[in-house]
Amino acid sequence: MNASDPLPPWEPPMIQPLHHGTINKFGHRRNDASHAEIDGIPIDDLVTLYGSPLFITSEQRLRHNVRTLRHALETHYPHVVHGWSYKTNITSAICRILHQEGSWAEVVSRSEYEKARLLGVPGNRILFNGPYKPRPILERAIAEEAHIHIDHLDELTQIEAIARQHDRVVPVTLRLNFNTGFTEPWSRFGFNLENGQAHEAAVRIRCSPHLTLTGLHSHLGTFILDPRAYGRQVTLMTDFMREVEQDGSTRIHYLDIGGGFPSRNALQGVYAPPEQAVPEIKEYAREVGTALNEGLSGRPGPQPLLIFESGRAVVDDAQSLVATVVGTKRLVDGRRGVILDAGINLMLTGLWYHHPVRLVRPKEGIPEETVLFGPLCMNIDVMRHLVSLPPLAVGDRLVFTPVGAYNNTQWLQFIELRPPIILVSPHGTHELIRQGETLSSLCEPERMPPHLNRNPGQWPPLPQPTKA
Ligand SMILES: Cc1ncc(COP(=O)(O)O)c(C=O)c1O
Repeated sequence: MNASDPLPPWEPPMIQPLHHGTINKFGHRRNDASHAEIDGIPIDDLVTLYGSPLFITSEQRLRHNVRTLRHALETHYPHVVHGWSYKTNITSAICRILHQEGSWAEVVSRSEYEKARLLGVPGNRILFNGPYKPRPILERAIAEEAHIHIDHLDELTQIEAIARQHDRVVPVTLRLNFNTGFTEPWSRFGFNLENGQAHEAAVRIRCSPHLTLTGLHSHLGTFILDPRAYGRQVTLMTDFMREVEQDGSTRIHYLDIGGGFPSRNALQGVYAPPEQAVPEIKEYAREVGTALNEGLSGRPGPQPLLIFESGRAVVDDAQSLVATVVGTKRLVDGRRGVILDAGINLMLTGLWYHHPVRLVRPKEGIPEETVLFGPLCMNIDVMRHLVSLPPLAVGDRLVFTPVGAYNNTQWLQFIELRPPIILVSPHGTHELIRQGETLSSLCEPERMPPHLNRNPGQWPPLPQPTKA
């Protein structure tokens, strides 16, 4: 510090109580590591150009992730396809990159289906999941030969009616749910295996002159930390496949194991850091591959495609959120409070994960327990409840990574406008892939009824301020 530098603001010394809850058997985690660049481009330069807060996506990382996942599975089984889960991140450029990598589209709504088609994905490369597929989009998907994953009996009946109306035989896939014993079972989507629902649905399809069962699908959940869940999943699916194929009238062309592989994020309540808590992707691939090869052994004819629908493991660590400190305060309980320009409305996953957060530039000073608040005038706007950071000042920047999964789709325009998303490409260039919101883009869908068209008119006069 030079003699001419302004003095930092003085704070009276105070005794800080120790808060239990951050202490665990691994001790405190320090967060004074810095993260200055993304794919060789200084984050500070990007913020100068595009502003803060800012979502930064790495094209290189995205391509690397999807190739690594596919390759891990292909090491065990040759016929593998990735279906890109649009709900995980529906930004057009991100979807396009994944389609360039050969990923199909996995969609769960009418608008997602339409978006996939707009992005040039042919119907027969779309996996159509979800519990609600309105009739017009079902008709279109059937006409375009999309892969329809049936969720419930009413949907089955509707597909059959459409097929009958067009005098067609429609290939369909059954979504299954079951208990692997390694994860909390989800029973709300698809047909249950244990109670016979799935069997009944398969019989119903077999008896229909307008439907043919060609695929089986299931999705265990998300951020699954036990790879054995996938081995069990595949075994249950191949057992069911044998059952439905038994009489020779049905032939399954693909087994779709859904998504759920974790990213290197920190789920709240899991004490070990992601590097220790999250198994390697090859462990998941080994489980899937071993169970699949066992399940298919002795099965004659061409073997089914293995489809996986990873979202989180593909995109999460390909995106970061940069935020800038806009204020600091000492909270009454002694903790340091830091106000950032990015709030929980941009990183909704902060409600379930402790996203690793790092300084963009290293900072001197003893780390202390800090609460990271967002800019919203709402009590819930906390980006991290407690993280150990060196003393921060206005203008310092932090980067949250990974944030690529489920934030650009679940974010809310709430109080603040949503910021831009940029893409850093492998040739060292960067581009906007989604503009930041503006007041006019926000108000564009609104309409003013004619009787409200006039300006407010007369305001009552203001009292004049006086000084005693
Ligand atoms: C049917 C289906 N497939 C794939 C995914 C992607 O899951 P993940 O991001 O955990 O890989 C989801 C997410 O909920 C899903 O519902």
